[in-house]
Amino acid sequence: MKAEILKMLRQSDGYLSGQQLCDHFQVSRTAVWKAINQLKEEGYEIEAVRNKGYRIVDIPDRITADAIKSCLETKWMAKNLEYYDEIDSTNNRAKALGEAGGADGTLFVAETQTAGKGRRGRCWQSPAGSSISMSILLRPVMNPSDAPMLTLVMAYAATKALREKTELDIGIKWPNDLVVSGKKISGILTEMSAEIDYINHVVIGIGINVNMESFPEDIAKTATSLRIEAGKEFRRFELIAAIMEHFEKAYEAVCEAGSLEPIMEDYNRLLVNCGRRVRVLEPEHEYDALALGIDKTGELQVECEDGSRKSVFAGEVSV
Ligand code: BTN
Repeated sequence: MKAEILKMLRQSDGYLSGQQLCDHFQVSRTAVWKAINQLKEEGYEIEAVRNKGYRIVDIPDRITADAIKSCLETKWMAKNLEYYDEIDSTNNRAKALGEAGGADGTLFVAETQTAGKGRRGRCWQSPAGSSISMSILLRPVMNPSDAPMLTLVMAYAATKALREKTELDIGIKWPNDLVVSGKKISGILTEMSAEIDYINHVVIGIGINVNMESFPEDIAKTATSLRIEAGKEFRRFELIAAIMEHFEKAYEAVCEAGSLEPIMEDYNRLLVNCGRRVRVLEPEHEYDALALGIDKTGELQVECEDGSRKSVFAGEVSV
């Protein structure tokens, strides 16, 4: 009921009367009053005026399950939601629930992670109060070899949502880093449990630098936050809800098509590498090439210096 009250307060132009809330939830005035008090304790500034009702005055940037649910407009994605003040890694928690039969589309969000994981065994820092750390548990019906496409779907959805919410010129560095002004604001780590021809579950974890004011010296040259770039703060739970909405749409379209075809053109428009020289870092071999964009499987098409074309499916490129 708290999340729903929050949603109604956010959507209402003026005051929402206690009676309206009682009628809507079919509960007593005391029950409504209790829920309002709980919201106040969580930091929401709610004005109560006799004969008028309740009005929300200030919404804090606190990630709670209620806050996310109060603005989430998805059909099924993230409807199941687990929130933690602190956890080792949301990816680990999502994988454990994946093994234990957890529902498709469950979202795991943490205020901070004590052992956040990055790609290639690196660590990921999730400072409390300023970052987003979340993982979605999925049970796609597709060939395990197609699962890497889902990482690109998340990169695409997050970029679309964050561009909309922040008006920043956010781009994708293939395959799945989000960058602004050449610096990283977000990274994605996808993990899968599968048999040769069957996916048990996929976990896509995303970390986003939202309201940090600065970064440690060792990463200050390569990392930035939405706040540093936009010069203002953002409410993290609103960003989470927006990402989930874009993700649900793109994920459904891609699963139905069986390829990235429905988002490929748009993804390529957001790809910062497109039309630029990149260095392809393959395990055994490095070379320079011109990036042309992804194909419908998500592989990066590049033109080598001798004019030949290649698909890059593993390894990383540097801009
Ligand atoms: C990278 O760019 O190296 C990927 C970073 C992925 C970080 C996210 S934060 C939420 C989820 N939980 C983790 O332990 N990692 C991912």
